[in-house]
Amino acid sequence: MKIKNSWLLAVVLFIGMGVQAQKFEGLADTPPMGWNSWNKFACDVNEEMIRGIADAMVESGMKDAGYEYVVIDDCWHGGRDSLGFIYADSAKFPNGMKALADYVHSKGLKLGIYSDAGTKTCAGYPGSRGYEYQDALQYAEWGIDYLKYDWCNTENVNPIGAYSTMRDALYKAGRPIFFSMCEWGDNQPWEWAGDVGHMWRTTGDIYLCWDCKHDHGGYYSWGVTRILDMQDGLRKYAGPGHWNDPDMLEVGNGMPVNEDRAHFSMWAMLAAPLISGNDLRDMTPETIEILTNDEVIAVDQDSLGVQGFKYGSEDSLETWFKPLDNGEWAVCFFNRGQEDVRLRFDWKKENVVDEIFGYEARFEEITYAMRNLWTKKSEGKTEKAFKGTVPSHDVIMLRLIPVE
Ligand code: GLA
Repeated sequence: MKIKNSWLLAVVLFIGMGVQAQKFEGLADTPPMGWNSWNKFACDVNEEMIRGIADAMVESGMKDAGYEYVVIDDCWHGGRDSLGFIYADSAKFPNGMKALADYVHSKGLKLGIYSDAGTKTCAGYPGSRGYEYQDALQYAEWGIDYLKYDWCNTENVNPIGAYSTMRDALYKAGRPIFFSMCEWGDNQPWEWAGDVGHMWRTTGDIYLCWDCKHDHGGYYSWGVTRILDMQDGLRKYAGPGHWNDPDMLEVGNGMPVNEDRAHFSMWAMLAAPLISGNDLRDMTPETIEILTNDEVIAVDQDSLGVQGFKYGSEDSLETWFKPLDNGEWAVCFFNRGQEDVRLRFDWKKENVVDEIFGYEARFEEITYAMRNLWTKKSEGKTEKAFKGTVPSHDVIMLRLIPVE
């Protein structure tokens, strides 16, 4: 009897501990969509701009396309009061965070904020180290819905410990807050963060270029193709509730339209978070068209939640596949090179197998209808080889739908 009771106690304690140590479930069944201030505005954030972005997210059609979070990155902070509570910079945010959250919520959107696991943020503002539970309480009180949690100034801090502490603090504060881990892949978060965060950065920061490496003096930022290459081997770790994050979008920030289109398409193939990083108040029709392409977004947001994979490459042309729900597939022909590439893809000769998640295209037995996701036109069926020209730094992206 005694033994039985102590077993029971152990079970209860174990379950009790389990209840405390968890993230909010159901916030990331598909990759999150939204906007973040950093790529375009860096430290130049303020309340008026954020309100304008929320307005523009609605007016541009982005909200209808699925974008939801408006995230203020670094530099919103004022300081800590005598009791240690964090407050916003009153010159940048004269009405405070609660009023801003109310405004964003009134638009049917959600508000995100930024902090850091170290003593200071990357830009030198107060970090959350030692204040995790207090900060989480404050965010919950303001009505925050999303936290991006960075990794600067974390000397001697254990990453699993630090991110788990903030996860627990958010959970304890009681308001469902999406937890975006920004640890740059330094400590292989994909191996341990599945039950810690809803997504984790896999690389250093993105840089506004197609294929370059920008030296900040000691660390680097990376162009689109560089970031893409760094995703190799990580797809098995992603799925509903826990996503690889190859960093925020640079669409609309100055690359040519074809590069923006390819960047957006490949992020969708990766089931990446679609966090826009441009000025939504001032977009060209082309930028809006890319960011709100519902059929490309549907590939990213597919309920199966399987990250795509590189099936093959020949010279500058890569062929990527992504299994979708209902036996469908997304295919992306991605031209990294300077020259246009003529393409002939004979489906029946290809053996497309996703060995990790167990999907197979079986082109010999199944005929698929092809839908071009950028021209929005039918491309016939997979009985015949697909022919096309993929322009330099661009894509042809298709959805394959079984017809037999
Ligand atoms: C780091 C992050 C960026 C951004 C800046 C803010 O570099 O990786 O995404 O949040 O800090 O200072």
